[in-house]
Formats: sequence, structure tokens, C-alpha cells
Amino acid sequence: MTKKALISGITGQDGSYLAEHLLGLGYEVHGLVRRVALEAPQKRFGRISHLLDDLILHPASLESYPSIFHVISQHNFDECYHLAAQSFVAESFADGFSTLNTNINGTHYVLAALRELRPKCRFYFAGSSEMFGNADEVPQKETTSFQPRSPYGISKVAGFHLTKNYREAYGLFCVNGILFNHESPRRGFEFVTRKTTSAVAQIKLGLASELRIGNLEAKRDWGHARDYVSAMHLMLQQEKPDDYVIASGETHSVRELCELAFGVVDLDYRDYVKVDERYYRPAEVDLLVGDAAKARKVLGWKLRVSFAELIQEMVLSDLEAYSSTTVGALSTAEAAGLSGAKP
Ligand code: GDD
Repeated sequence: MTKKALISGITGQDGSYLAEHLLGLGYEVHGLVRRVALEAPQKRFGRISHLLDDLILHPASLESYPSIFHVISQHNFDECYHLAAQSFVAESFADGFSTLNTNINGTHYVLAALRELRPKCRFYFAGSSEMFGNADEVPQKETTSFQPRSPYGISKVAGFHLTKNYREAYGLFCVNGILFNHESPRRGFEFVTRKTTSAVAQIKLGLASELRIGNLEAKRDWGHARDYVSAMHLMLQQEKPDDYVIASGETHSVRELCELAFGVVDLDYRDYVKVDERYYRPAEVDLLVGDAAKARKVLGWKLRVSFAELIQEMVLSDLEAYSSTTVGALSTAEAAGLSGAKP
């Protein structure tokens, strides 16, 4: 029988790769989308435009329990991937209230509706390495304690515990993926990798002259989003629900990212990168690096794309986009992010 999967956040980077992956495995793929997105498909569905004929999209809001309940009541879903969230850490400092509301209540609504209507449906929660925050051990693994440093990190810790609680209290098959940073040419322009690779492309083509950036010394563990969504699926195919760290096991600074990205087009980042304190965070997570040994052993998960390959792919993709008419098709909001106007 064809398996049915529901993805919240299907229009985002991870949602689009996961939808591709599940369609490739023969799933019937459903997505929760905001009603405004359905009203402006060209603007909002850029990442899934090539899949639209194969997807079943439902309007719903993470702020409305009845809308989520209604969608879940319509189909007998086998798997539910809850990826939707306010996911930009800097924005969570600007508006902690809405980040906490959307990320915590949204997760709770989906879990509560599944418990009521589809207790056999397997549930994946998109946890984050930001939950480790000021981590007390390096590298971070499933047993490392959480010391979040932002409203975003706090919201993900709450989502993690809600997910675990539904597993323990009600016997639902609920798993937490603790994913470290994962990027791709589909990454939003406000995140540091895409901000950098899009600036490199514009500078190379003479469309911009500098990149204004924040903390060059912060260190992250970056992998390719396509590799990471395959782990989400694997987590739901296990006999028992559990939590898994997904990471590359390597850490690089933002400075190294800049050096590498500018290097792809034979430029020296020191000639173009300007540190701008406006992009510093009120509380920074200085160093993240994950240990995915459990996922490799239990899930058989493998990292395929290296950090250097990832950044090269992103720079080349942005060069192509800015060299062609594609740039005219970028949404206004994204184009605004390109100038670096948004921290
Ligand atoms: N965005 C941004 N813009 N970050 C900058 C900048 C800048 O101009 N300058 C330096 N940084 C630093 C940030 O301070 C942070 O230390 C690091 O670059 C990475 O920032 P982001 O790319 O915005 O990602 P993040 O690490 O905060 O969070 C991402 O990864 C998490 C773990 O997977 C997001 O995708 C989260 O949603 C995700 O949970």
C-alpha cells in the first residue's frame, strides 16, 4: 500500500528536499502550507515548483489548532514530518514572543491532533544543534545537555521535550532529529552561508562591492541539506522511536567559510568582507560540532557531500542565477535579503 506522509514546512529548504526524497520512494506526499502561499504560488513555491503536480497541499496555520486538526482528520497519514518553524536565530532575538508561540504551540498542536486522530502515525520533530547552545562538551551527541542561548534554541528544547513526552506518556512513535547546520543552493538568503555565496556571486559579476557580516569567529558544523533529510526518513523506519544527532563532525569558522567561498571565484575575502556589529547576536553560540556515530551505526546514515563541495555548489549555483534571468524570478523578500539589509 502506498504510504502517506505529511510535511509541515514543505516550502522550505528541508521540506522541498524531503518531498523529493519521499516521492522518489513512492510515497503520497502531502504538505501543510499557509493560505497566503496558496494565493501567491509563484512567489512562495519556488523550491517546490517542479513538484507541484505530484504534491497534495493543504492550507493550515501553525497558530490554529482547528486548521491542523482538520487536515489530519482528512487522511490516514503514516508519517508526519514537522519541519515548519520560525528558524532564523537572529529573528528570535528580535521577536522572541512569536518564535516561542509558533515553534512551541505549533509543535504541540500537531502532536495533540495526531494523538487524537492518528495515534499510529509516526512523528518526526526537527530539533536543532542550537539546543546545545553553550555546550559543556565537544563534540555534542545525544546525551549532551542542552544550554540554549536564544529564544529559538529555547523553543526547540521545548519542542524536543514535548516530542519525548508524547512518546513516553502516550506511546506515540515520536522521534527527535538533532540536526546541525545544513545548507544548499535552496537555503534562505538570511543565513550566513547563502548570504556569503550570493554576495560572492554578485561581487564577481560586478553587482555588489562588499559583504557586511557579523561574527567571523563563530564556528559551525555544516553539511548538505539533501544528505540530512534522508536521515529524517530513516529515523521513522526503525523498530523503536529514538533521538539522533545528524552532523558532519567537522567544524569551520565563518571566516573559513568566507575564505572558501571567495576562493571559488579566485577572490580574496579580505578585500570584500566588512565586519558590521549590527549582525552580532546578543548571545552567541561560539562552537558547535556534532558526533553522528549513533546515526551512522543504527540508521546506516552517511554524509556524502563535504563542506568544500557544499560551498562550491552554492557559489556556482548563485553565479548561474545572477548571470541569467533567474534573478528576476527571485522573490522580493529574498532579493531584499541579498543586499544584506537583514541581520
Ligand atoms: N545569519 C548570519 N548573518 N549569521 C552570521 C552573520 C551574518 O551576517 N555573521 C556571522 N554570523 C554567524 C552567526 O552569528 C552564527 O554564529 C553563524 O554565523 C551561523 O548563523 P546562521 O547561518 O544564521 O545559522 P544558525 O547557526 O544561527 O542556525 C541555523 O542552524 C541551526 C542548526 O541546524 C538555522 O538553520 C537554525 O534554524 C538551525 O536550527
